[in-house]
Amino acid sequence: MSEGTTTIVIFGASGDLAKRKLVPALFTLAAKNRLDANVRIVGASRSTMSDDQFRESMWDALQEFSDLKNRRHDWDRFARRLHYIPADISNPEHFLNMKEHLEELEGDARPANRLFYLSIAPSLYLPAILNLGATDLALEDTGWRRVVIEKPFGWNLESAQALNREVHQVFKEEQVYRIDHYLGKESVQNLLVLRFANAIFEPVWNRNYVDNIQITVAESVDVADRAAYYDESGVVRDMVQNHLLQLLAMVAMEPPSAADAESLRSKKVDVLKAIRRWETDNVSNHAIRGQYEGYLDEKGVDPGSLTGTYVAMRLYVDNWRWRDVPFYLRTGKAMANKTSEIIVQFQSPPHLMFYDRKPDDLSPNVLSVCLQPNEGTHLRFQSKVPDQGMAMQPVDMEFSYETAFRDQSIPEAYELLLEDALQGDASLFIRSDHIEEAWRIVEPLLNWHEIRPPYQYDRGSWGPKAADWLLAQDGRSWVLVCGGS
Ligand code: BG6
Repeated sequence: MSEGTTTIVIFGASGDLAKRKLVPALFTLAAKNRLDANVRIVGASRSTMSDDQFRESMWDALQEFSDLKNRRHDWDRFARRLHYIPADISNPEHFLNMKEHLEELEGDARPANRLFYLSIAPSLYLPAILNLGATDLALEDTGWRRVVIEKPFGWNLESAQALNREVHQVFKEEQVYRIDHYLGKESVQNLLVLRFANAIFEPVWNRNYVDNIQITVAESVDVADRAAYYDESGVVRDMVQNHLLQLLAMVAMEPPSAADAESLRSKKVDVLKAIRRWETDNVSNHAIRGQYEGYLDEKGVDPGSLTGTYVAMRLYVDNWRWRDVPFYLRTGKAMANKTSEIIVQFQSPPHLMFYDRKPDDLSPNVLSVCLQPNEGTHLRFQSKVPDQGMAMQPVDMEFSYETAFRDQSIPEAYELLLEDALQGDASLFIRSDHIEEAWRIVEPLLNWHEIRPPYQYDRGSWGPKAADWLLAQDGRSWVLVCGGS
């Protein structure tokens, strides 16, 4: 019996994601000797191309979009693993042709595993899956079969449920890898280590000590050349339903008993289930939405569009650990800085013995987790200013990846996610019940335009003023430690 083989089939191989992220990630893994020699990559899309033309187009993309330039020698070795099969997703004939082609490439190597990566428009997920099923490409006859599905998974709760049902007609849940690339970020995974591999944080990580938690994912870029997609989708579908709720779940989850996929994912789903639900008519009390100035002039945007490019919201997690601790979430485009950070703001000390100062006069302790850029963790606490009596000042204790791990660079999220999918580790992928629960939470926000138009905010600002009022009503304000003020 010959050695086994694994084929990664990338549907949508001439698209942006394949060029910017997937192929560079696979190339990097190969260069790090982390991609088995028997893994090959088959690109599939509608264009007609030879293997060599495909290889060259991926090399060109590498020059344009990645830091992996001038590595022609390594590339030539890697490129031998690349193949191309033209395929129209809606045409079952093309899938039959692909099957033959794959069998030819696999020869008599066993097992012959296949990882299908759907890097295509969401409207094509269903036909792709149905055709994989109809042509037995998904059949686990000669090896395992897995499917990786990009976001957005569904457009709302109903469509996500329908898609899950259809996917399960062809693939068992354990064969399905729904991606949220935030989970592949080093600093996001470090949340688990910070919380569960240290003894000092977990005892205070609850409603007895924490005043509020803030999650900011600010982007300085605008919608640029994705305007047409973005105008349809908007900020809630693009960022909140997936990335922000994932971050919230990682921060709020209970410690899992083991690091396996089911234990981890079940704890995250528990958090989502505990989130207090809004009714559509009280959404505006808890969330505000913005649109950056000039958005309506972007090419591809409907000039009367009410699509939000920014959102800020207050959520509560109704369980023993978090009851009544507000979680403030915000994200937006065209903002002052690119920064993703999590702020855990602690309560003020119960009593201050220094002069006539009251505990509320001091800024409270803050643990801030900088997810990107400047990945690291800061702990802010009060310190005595030298030689000024009992004057106090907040100071930061800092850990930064750059200085602590000088010799190691932070990998791209897709490297790890692809590696995990190949190894059959689904911990960093989203289970069907998580997807549906997340849609349930944001559902009242999806029909927002019927309630009120978005607030305008200036490009390069921190979003609409109304987002500040949201916190001011609670006697609080937004805090940023890593990414500006
Ligand atoms: C994507 C969104 O999922 O995440 C984009 O569709 C957004 O709109 C991007 O820009 C942000 O990812 P990152 O890794 O740059 O924070």
